[in-house]
Amino acid sequence: GIITNDIVELNARSVNGITSRGGTMLYTARCLEFKEPEGVKRAADNCKYLGIDGIVAIGGDGTFRGCRDLSNAGINTVGIPGTIDNDIACTHYSIGFDTACNTAIEAIDKLSDTMQSHERVSVVEVMGRNAGHLAIYVSISVGATAVLIPEKPSKIEEVTEKIREGRIHGKNHFIIIVAEGVGNTTEIAQQIKDQTGMETRVTIIGHVQRGGSPSARDRVMASRMGHYAVESLIKGKSNIVVCYRNSQICDLSIDDGLKMHKEIDPYMYEVSQDISI
Ligand code: F6P
Repeated sequence: GIITNDIVELNARSVNGITSRGGTMLYTARCLEFKEPEGVKRAADNCKYLGIDGIVAIGGDGTFRGCRDLSNAGINTVGIPGTIDNDIACTHYSIGFDTACNTAIEAIDKLSDTMQSHERVSVVEVMGRNAGHLAIYVSISVGATAVLIPEKPSKIEEVTEKIREGRIHGKNHFIIIVAEGVGNTTEIAQQIKDQTGMETRVTIIGHVQRGGSPSARDRVMASRMGHYAVESLIKGKSNIVVCYRNSQICDLSIDDGLKMHKEIDPYMYEVSQDISI
């Protein structure tokens, strides 16, 4: 919109009721043109022409690079982290993560009902791109027997050993969570079947994790981050990303934020490994 000058004025009434909706009423998506200097210049010129003196952009690293470029072109810009993957390095929380976890949990709870009666292994793929944050949270929440994530490559034998151990202790159905970044979930399920003799079923939860009415946590975090972003613009700040670190909303320069690297939380991983057999 800001490149093609497709801009309409909104006020508080225009956003009435959107708190409970998923998706974007702006229809925003990835924009290749914004990666080119010409695209950024056109956007900045349009903003200047219309008297838009501040932009708040929600997204991940690509969005923040766009914010930095727009800021360098003279428009004060603040980024807010939003992705279900929760893989943005500079912040401990990204908007959307909690809602996606809840959606996956609700689906898996339903799966468990039938897996229990049929004594099966349910192999469930969750999203997360190349990261396992979503998989770990979901795994803990549903008491999965094992979680496979790209950051910690594990042998399939470790999973099947846990299943064998569980069966010795009277457990008759199992949930295995696979982060999409690990690879072929169907192949993993087949290997589990071959090694344990148990029936397996694969469920790929997919894009439903990206939609739906936001959870209370996401609504509150989005409101806090949005509030902080606007206050920052009023104070004349620019080229920053709003972050959630050590239970506080704060900000970092986009350049500093982009230099950071995020690991999985080792304690959360340990809990996911120990919580259930
Ligand atoms: O980054 C969010 C995410 O949903 C990832 O978890 C997933 O890998 C990717 O986007 C899917 O993207 P697309 O909708 O373009 O296939």
